[in-house]
Amino acid sequence: MRKASVTVPASTANLGPGFDCLALALSLRNTVELYEASQGLEIDVEGEGEDRIALDSTNLIARAAEAVFERVGRRPAGLRVHAVNGIPVGSGLGSSSAAIVGGLAAANALVDGRLTRDDLLRLATGIEGHPDNVSAALFGGLTLASASGEELLVKSLSVPPLKVVIALPDLRLSTAEARAALPAQVPLKDAVFNIGRALFTVQALTQVDYDLLRFAMADRLHQPYRRSLIPGFDAVVMAARKAGAAAVALSGAGPALVAFAPDRYWDIANAMQAAFAAAGLASRTFVLPVDRQGVQVQVSVTG
Ligand code: HSE
Repeated sequence: MRKASVTVPASTANLGPGFDCLALALSLRNTVELYEASQGLEIDVEGEGEDRIALDSTNLIARAAEAVFERVGRRPAGLRVHAVNGIPVGSGLGSSSAAIVGGLAAANALVDGRLTRDDLLRLATGIEGHPDNVSAALFGGLTLASASGEELLVKSLSVPPLKVVIALPDLRLSTAEARAALPAQVPLKDAVFNIGRALFTVQALTQVDYDLLRFAMADRLHQPYRRSLIPGFDAVVMAARKAGAAAVALSGAGPALVAFAPDRYWDIANAMQAAFAAAGLASRTFVLPVDRQGVQVQVSVTG
């Protein structure tokens, strides 16, 4: 029997102005192991979200694997999935994208790598519904994505080894809820504001220019509509800035917030945690380097 083992990184999407277009891969990983089996589907999950994750055919890893088998017209008689999650679930750190990319990459390894990374990217974007987190999970680094209908363009830029601070409040907020808070249309001046700021956010991150990032990482397309979903949002942003953060953004659809700074990471993390506590929310904090590798795959033969 063959086994494919994959590790896949977390990601923080949007980066302020780059709604559905920008993401940064982070060094916090899930492991997905797929084993060929003689029949059925068996799934077990350890670590983050182990009590919340579906263990049947609706499981994202299983759905992603099935999408690969369907595409290549070949599937093992049965499948065993073993997932070890380091990425908090429903956090704004790309856990669903990691599951999807993990399932796709592992299944593709079991069918001898018949699909290209671009094929996997398209399948992943289709399952996730938008390309930002899945691009970072696949390619690592800072990813730029542009999707419209069938058109999909993704580019991964390498970034110097910067670190980010994450503050994750103990709050259930699904991406679907956070997307439902968004308006169907936005004023032209807000769209133009975000285009400009997104361009300079890319420049600031690739050059690690925190003064520029302070200016650039501002947003009028999603954060103004989402911040009321997260108690203490404004206070946490202010606390992070006061402790030394150059810029703070909602991480993906939240509820985590991400702060960018040249140093004083744990001072910033502690200040964010204290501000969440003052708003009545417990939180976990992380200081995470950028991941520059994306998904990593290994295949082995067992038994
Ligand atoms: N760009 C997405 C959003 C990321 O903000 O809704 C979350 O999956």
